[in-house]
Amino acid sequence: MKRGKEDRLRAEIERLKQERKAIILAHNYQPGEVQDLADYVGDSLGLSQQAARTDAEVIVFCGVHFMAETASILCPEKTVLMPDPTAGCPMADMVDVEGLQALKREHPQALVVAYVNTTAAVKAESDLCCTSANAAKVIASLEPEREIIFVPDKYLGQYTASQLGDSRRFVFWNGFCPSHVRILPEHIQQQRAEHPEALVMVHPECLPEVTALADEVLSTSGMCRVARETTRREVIVGTETGILHRLRRENPDKRFYPATELCVCPNMKKNSLEKVLWALQEMKYEVKVPEEVRVRAWAAVERMLAVT
Ligand code: 13P
Ligand code: SF4
Repeated sequence: MKRGKEDRLRAEIERLKQERKAIILAHNYQPGEVQDLADYVGDSLGLSQQAARTDAEVIVFCGVHFMAETASILCPEKTVLMPDPTAGCPMADMVDVEGLQALKREHPQALVVAYVNTTAAVKAESDLCCTSANAAKVIASLEPEREIIFVPDKYLGQYTASQLGDSRRFVFWNGFCPSHVRILPEHIQQQRAEHPEALVMVHPECLPEVTALADEVLSTSGMCRVARETTRREVIVGTETGILHRLRRENPDKRFYPATELCVCPNMKKNSLEKVLWALQEMKYEVKVPEEVRVRAWAAVERMLAVT
């Protein structure tokens, strides 16, 4: 986009933000122009914490649908807007209420831990939520003798179970992220061969064969923190490529290499400056969770926030 046009869009967004008493929250995978505009850029946990504590009246949520829904669950009195309402999360759509209810009937003593990448309706059927940043901490807070049904990401679930190293029993839902499974062990091996001094960090949604090869397995904000703190000058990044914008901007003296360019989440790429502007102009598209579902989903999210 031409610089002048981009500046005009930014100025108009700023003006409307003041008028509407709005805040812009963006996930670490959003397009660079949207990240640069946001009041806060973060991972799923950080975004829900920001949503919970803001005193803005309107939240423009630049991410995918379950993230905006989580904001609406936490702040029902605020208007939560998604610039593109079609931005979903295919992993979240892999688990449905009926399937989860059937699994609960098979394991009546189990507790249900839902990755935050789930619909509000699935959260409402769950005992508590977790994100990639706090899954181990959340599960460690539960009675050790209780079986855990973990939905929907089997890879995050398996990785977390391996971290806990206790004898707890798990039932994993058969879900996964279609973008992260594109990162293969040979991508890591090739990048390591090309950059032997580099630190390798990957997201826990990656295949177990990939997390096994990494130096660090982290949420997206965990990656931003470790990139800042490491003394290494080079970092290989195994997650959605949108995060490279933030990593490079915050660490201009370090070099970042994607494990592969194939790990792209098309839904995270649907936003643009124009769509953010239209969202504020038209006050669209509002994300609202029916109250009966919201109160039950809120309990699961709130239990997670209390643990973290
Ligand atoms: P984070 O919570 O680590 O940002 O992950 C969210 C996500 O959707 C990863 O694919
Ligand atoms: Fe969902 Fe994967 Fe996209 Fe994250 S990267 S929003 S898990 S599809």
